[in-house]
Amino acid sequence: MITREQVMEALAPIIERGKAETGAKAFSIRDVVVKEQQVSLTALTASETIQQALQNALGEALGPLGIETVHARFRPLEHPEAPGAAAGAEGESSSGAGGQPIGHAAGMEEHPLLSPDSGVQFIAVASGKGGVGKSTVTVNLAVALARLGKRVGIIDADIYGFSVPDMMGIEERPSIEQDRVVPVRSHGVQVMSMGFFVEDNNPIVWRGPMLGKMLRNFFNEIAWDTPEYVLLDLPPGTGDVALDVHQMIPHSKEIIVTTPHATAAFVAARAGAMAVKTEHEIIGVVENMSYYTCSHCGEKEYIFGRGGGGRLAESLHCELLAQIPLGAPDNHPSEPDFSPSIYKEHTTAGQIYMELASAVIARCET
Ligand SMILES: Nc1ncnc2c1ncn2[C@@H]1O[C@H](COP(=O)(O)OP(=O)(O)OP(=O)(O)O)[C@@H](O)[C@H]1O
Ligand SMILES: [Mg+2]
Repeated sequence: MITREQVMEALAPIIERGKAETGAKAFSIRDVVVKEQQVSLTALTASETIQQALQNALGEALGPLGIETVHARFRPLEHPEAPGAAAGAEGESSSGAGGQPIGHAAGMEEHPLLSPDSGVQFIAVASGKGGVGKSTVTVNLAVALARLGKRVGIIDADIYGFSVPDMMGIEERPSIEQDRVVPVRSHGVQVMSMGFFVEDNNPIVWRGPMLGKMLRNFFNEIAWDTPEYVLLDLPPGTGDVALDVHQMIPHSKEIIVTTPHATAAFVAARAGAMAVKTEHEIIGVVENMSYYTCSHCGEKEYIFGRGGGGRLAESLHCELLAQIPLGAPDNHPSEPDFSPSIYKEHTTAGQIYMELASAVIARCET
């Protein structure tokens, strides 16, 4: 198997030469993805004339490794010295966390690594109340999409209350490649969370602008490996933080999570109203903790009431995509890849998440 390291090594002389010929800041190669005998990459270059030469050089450098195809995209790198042009959100003013959508802020990189232009489908997972299972739904839907062969990322947008790394059993930290943070892979999903940068689970206390900056970095400064879907685990509720985060993510679809209880569904409707306000298309409702299946008689018991998800979907004019039963995954810490919150594929909940993933794909790809 050809590794990314081998490819980067073969590209090193080309990068050196490109920098020498066009100026160090006017040339770079990034988004290098190696898949079997194919390499795709993006070359940022200030000079159009070197593109053909570069294409040939790439072929010559990578051919000997056994690479059969090189998909090179070229992008002009204009005014690399302009303030903030290369440094993502560095040029950001302290205008608050909300307001400036990601990928559209003034002074930002023209082509953020994770922008709607890259064809990625963002899906935000929101709720009116805390503790209804947003994070659980996010991680399990992401894993189910990956099990269906999709390239998936998770952004743990709950910057203060991050929980995704623990839920997925992630213990490692992201690595750095070419000055970029590489998301941690778990269960086939690329994950980025504030939890990776906090020591000893210390609480984070930040002002709004810092929050916005951090979240923007998750889109622009991270070496994402061309995901097709990126799920965003939103902070709970409909308060300022949640609204800021909503506003920052343009072109996102949204899933609203609720429990079957009437009050929970009523509160969740506010999250729906927030999605409408931020022009996020709601693709459906997920009702979590819907029922408990008695282990003796197999009867369903509706511990938290009944019908909340259906009524919410009706009031938001969308569909009830799934009803997920109560029950923690039966995973054991001694297992390889142990994660406390991921349901195995063959379990009842695992299968419901596979159906949910198919329903989501059907709504995003038709
Ligand atoms: N279907 C379920 N059956 C049993 N326990 C569940 C279920 N879904 C979630 N839980 C548990 O409920 C708790 C809350 O879930 P989770 O953290 O996913 O909610 P959340 O909406 O993301 O919370 P927060 O608002 O704090 O971010 C967790 O301990 C989780 O393991
Ligand atoms: Mg959560």
